[in-house]
Amino acid sequence: MAYAAGVDVGSTQTKAVVIDEGGRIVGRSLTATGANVIRAAEDAFREALADGDLREEEVEYVVGTGYGRYKVTFGNTQVTEISCHGRGAVHMFPATRTVVDMGGQDTKAIRVSARGEIEDFCMNDKCAAGTGRFLGAASSALDIPLEQLGPTALRGERPVKISTTCTVFAETEVLSWLGKGKKIEDILLGVHHSIAYRSVALLWRTGIEDEVTFTGGVAKNIAMIAALEREMGKKVNVSEESHYMGALGAALFALDHIVASRAPVRARGVTP
Ligand SMILES: Nc1ncnc2c1ncn2[C@@H]1O[C@H](COP(=O)(O)OP(=O)(O)OP(=O)(O)O)[C@@H](O)[C@H]1O
Ligand SMILES: [Mg+2]
Repeated sequence: MAYAAGVDVGSTQTKAVVIDEGGRIVGRSLTATGANVIRAAEDAFREALADGDLREEEVEYVVGTGYGRYKVTFGNTQVTEISCHGRGAVHMFPATRTVVDMGGQDTKAIRVSARGEIEDFCMNDKCAAGTGRFLGAASSALDIPLEQLGPTALRGERPVKISTTCTVFAETEVLSWLGKGKKIEDILLGVHHSIAYRSVALLWRTGIEDEVTFTGGVAKNIAMIAALEREMGKKVNVSEESHYMGALGAALFALDHIVASRAPVRARGVTP
C-alpha cells in the first residue's frame, strides 16, 4: 500500500494529511504556523505520520500548499491553495460547485466544476476584515476563547451593527459596544453577521451555485455556519475535515501523481 500526503502551510495554522490509495484520510495533524514556517511544515508532517502509525518511507509523494507551500522543503511539488480547497471539497461533497474557504488571513470564494477544477475564484484583498483574524480580535477584546465564540454568539438575540471593516479597529468597536452596556453574545452575533455579510458579497462575485461547501478553520465555528446560511438563504456543507480540506486536496494531487507514475507506458508500434 502506497500513501500520499498534503501539507497546507496557512498563514495561521499548518495542516497535514496522509491518505491511502483509496483517498481515505489515515493520519492528520494541526499545528500553529508561527515564525519558523519550515519547522511547522516538518512538525505537521511528522505528527500526521505518527497519527497514522506510518513511516516516512511509506509516503511516496508529498504536495505542499497554502501561503507557505514553498517552505515544505521535503515536498515533491506545490499546488495553490485555491486548487487544493476546490479539490478537497469536491472529494468530500461531490455535488460542490461553490467553495468558501475562511482561514486566518483571507476569505476565498471558489467556483468549481463537477471534476473539482477551478472555474473562477475571488479573495478579499488588502484587509483581513472577512476572516478569522477579525474573530481573533473579537476573541481577545472580549476575553473569550476562539472555540467559545460560536456557542456564545448563538445565544445572542439582538445583534449589534458592526460598522468597521478593518481588523485593526475591530477591537476598539467591540469594546465600545461593551462600554455602552451591550451583551457579549449580542456583540458577537453582530461580529458574525458582519463577517458573513462581507463574505457572501465576495461569493456573489464568483456566483453562488449549489452546493456550497465551507472549508478552513472558521468552519469549526457554528455561529459562522449559521450566519453564512442566513445570509445566503441556503445550507452549506461542513465536515469534521473542513479545516483539513486544503491539505486533503493537496494529498489527492499527490495521489494522482503516484497513480500516473504507475500507468503502463505503451510500447511504440504496438496496438492494444
Ligand atoms: N476550534 C476552533 N473554533 C473556532 N474557530 C477556529 C477553531 N480553530 C481555528 N479556528 C479559526 O480558524 C482560523 C485558522 O484557519 P485556517 O487554518 O484555515 O487558516 P490558515 O490556512 O492558516 O489561513 P489562510 O488560509 O488565510 O492563510 C483561526 O484564525 C481561527 O479563527
Ligand atoms: Mg488556508
